[in-house]
Amino acid sequence: MGSATEDGSAQAPVWVFGYGSLIWRPDFPFLERRPATVTGWARRFWQGSHDHRGVPDAPGRVVTLVPAPGETCIGMAYRIEHAVFDHLDYREKNGYERVAVSLTLDGTEIADGVVYIAPVGNHAFLGDAPMEEMARQIRRSAGPSGNNVDYLVELADALRALGARDAHVFALERAVLEN
Ligand code: SIN
Repeated sequence: MGSATEDGSAQAPVWVFGYGSLIWRPDFPFLERRPATVTGWARRFWQGSHDHRGVPDAPGRVVTLVPAPGETCIGMAYRIEHAVFDHLDYREKNGYERVAVSLTLDGTEIADGVVYIAPVGNHAFLGDAPMEEMARQIRRSAGPSGNNVDYLVELADALRALGARDAHVFALERAVLEN
């Protein structure tokens, strides 16, 4: 199976690693889904969202991956047909780029894959801020895909279901919900 290339040969399916909304909102067809990790990256609420969880004048905050030597980030890998990238490239268009990564599937099997990363300095990058400031921005933001708080809580719930320890996400969730 696979979509055709210009010379008529099939393009093999690809593993895509999701670490944010792609974990809990897979609105695309996939052949297989498996918990996975990437090493050397950390999940951070440092990317602005002008198109999903905020609006151009009042962006929300969503996750990207930042380089973190020695750290492991847990997410969900999906094996998709090449044609699905049209949808994903559009969904992740606000500053994210496809980056080749090595994945560990189910803690055991190594596979090549791709991940959407919004690199430091992209047009929508917000970067770090005091926890309370990030929490305030998330509490007040909403966009076409819904409230920013829901994005954070859905992600935290999905990470708990995966057994992930993610101090950044869980601390931000506490800051948003407890104040
Ligand atoms: C991802 O989920 O892998 C990318 C970030 C997002 O769409 O929330």
